[in-house]
Amino acid sequence: MTDNHRIIDPWNANLYDNKHAFVSALGSNLIELLAPQKDESILDLGCGTGDLAEKISDLGASVTGVDQSENMITSARNKYPNIQFFVQDALRLDYKQEFDAVFSNATLHWVKPPKQALMGIFNGLKHGGRFVAEFGGKGNVKTITDEIILGIKRNGFEYDMEHFPWYYPSIGEYTGLMEETGFEVVFAQLFERLTILEGENGLRNWIEMFGSSLFEGISETVTQQIITDVEQRLKGTLFNQETNSWTADYKRIRVMGMKK
Ligand code: BEZ
Repeated sequence: MTDNHRIIDPWNANLYDNKHAFVSALGSNLIELLAPQKDESILDLGCGTGDLAEKISDLGASVTGVDQSENMITSARNKYPNIQFFVQDALRLDYKQEFDAVFSNATLHWVKPPKQALMGIFNGLKHGGRFVAEFGGKGNVKTITDEIILGIKRNGFEYDMEHFPWYYPSIGEYTGLMEETGFEVVFAQLFERLTILEGENGLRNWIEMFGSSLFEGISETVTQQIITDVEQRLKGTLFNQETNSWTADYKRIRVMGMKK
């Protein structure tokens, strides 16, 4: 199912795999928390190009991967033809007690309202099933996004935080929503995960890949000026000349909830 409001698919699967492979690499040990068992039926929500779905499948589970991006799903199907992948919006999940587990890495910070996604996840789980997720938590990439928003304002534009594209909850907020939805929360953690963005253009590539919606209504020329300005302002703190790389101040929230 696609989101009818989104006409253009902004996700570039090749760029994602070549320059942002850390997204799935860092999700690998989330799979240890999931602890997939042989023949379990597992939904990978926001599967991207399918790398973690394949790792879960290799452990013997039967995996269904879904992602809102057609580009990602096309790439996932090409890479892993033995796994079922579908285009589907996390806000419109309509599974009914089908999965032993729902797994999600680096996706739910894109999904608002969060409670709607949680309800779809909860309904899709069998009784006794588990939900294991990791995504951007409170304070995630704040150094970068604060600087971008300041740059937007410095150029004479307003920035309404209502349009901020991401949801970065605290543990208290998200586990509260999980409990309201019906989950028993058995694990929650908020932690820093400084993330290397390689090369002199690492920060620019990251902003262009993930943050383009911050610049809605702003011309390409001004957008590029703002990004250059952000690079200059953050170079002293986030760029390491010796390793020729940027460090992004990622913060992750990791949760596990049970459906009784
Ligand atoms: C993240 O994984 O935390 C993230 C990725 C892209 C944009 C914002 C956050």
